[in-house]
Amino acid sequence: MKRLSLILGLIIGITTYTLMVNNVMAQCVKVDSSLSMDVQCSQLGTENYEFSLDLFENTQDIGGLYWQLDFSSLEVGTQTEDCVQIDPTDFSIYIECAELQGTHYEFNLQPYINPNDTANLFWQLDMTTLIARSGSQLFIDNCGSCHTANGLGSGDHGDRTSRTTSQIKAAIASIIPMRRLSSLSDPEIMAISDAITP
Ligand code: HEC
Repeated sequence: MKRLSLILGLIIGITTYTLMVNNVMAQCVKVDSSLSMDVQCSQLGTENYEFSLDLFENTQDIGGLYWQLDFSSLEVGTQTEDCVQIDPTDFSIYIECAELQGTHYEFNLQPYINPNDTANLFWQLDMTTLIARSGSQLFIDNCGSCHTANGLGSGDHGDRTSRTTSQIKAAIASIIPMRRLSSLSDPEIMAISDAITP
């Protein structure tokens, strides 16, 4: 009986560890200099879509940031993993990661009914949800005292240029001096991995 629970415990432990190290993160949405967003994969219920959002200048609200769905880009997606989530109840879009010039942003887009154009679909950035993460700064603050990578940091525990998020997570889970970094969130680790990969 004792042996059985020990084996079970081990199996559960190993499974949790693997899930922790390999858990998937939504892909980072690319934002170009005109602030268009290329959503390679989104999930709405059981359906997957690929589309782009173009910045929309809303003369009704100059301080806000709005996007319009580019209908010509809308396609049924083939990719089903790591997708951006669209809330089926209110069609809000949660973007865990959008990359603009090396900085990662997390935010929520709320549907916007445009009184001047009800035939198209619009979303508004919910400013209260906006978080910006600079991967280079995160690396300097959290890793730079021990490592260098892609020209950042000054530590002498070795260069860590081009490490994936799973390699970084595995290191945090197994290397004792790095354990205190377990408070870094998935989007933060993603931003670090991008910053140290040329
Ligand atoms: C307190 C010092 C310390 C800090 C802070 C630290 N590391 Fe490490 N890291 C180490 C040591 C020590 C090792 C293991 C020994 C070695 O490989 O030199 C290691 C190993 C690694 C490895 C695995 C080995 C490899 O080459 O792939 C990766 C990846 C890594 N670190 C990335 C990072 C990243 C990214 C950060 C910041 C989020 C970080 N480390 C912060 C000390 C540190």
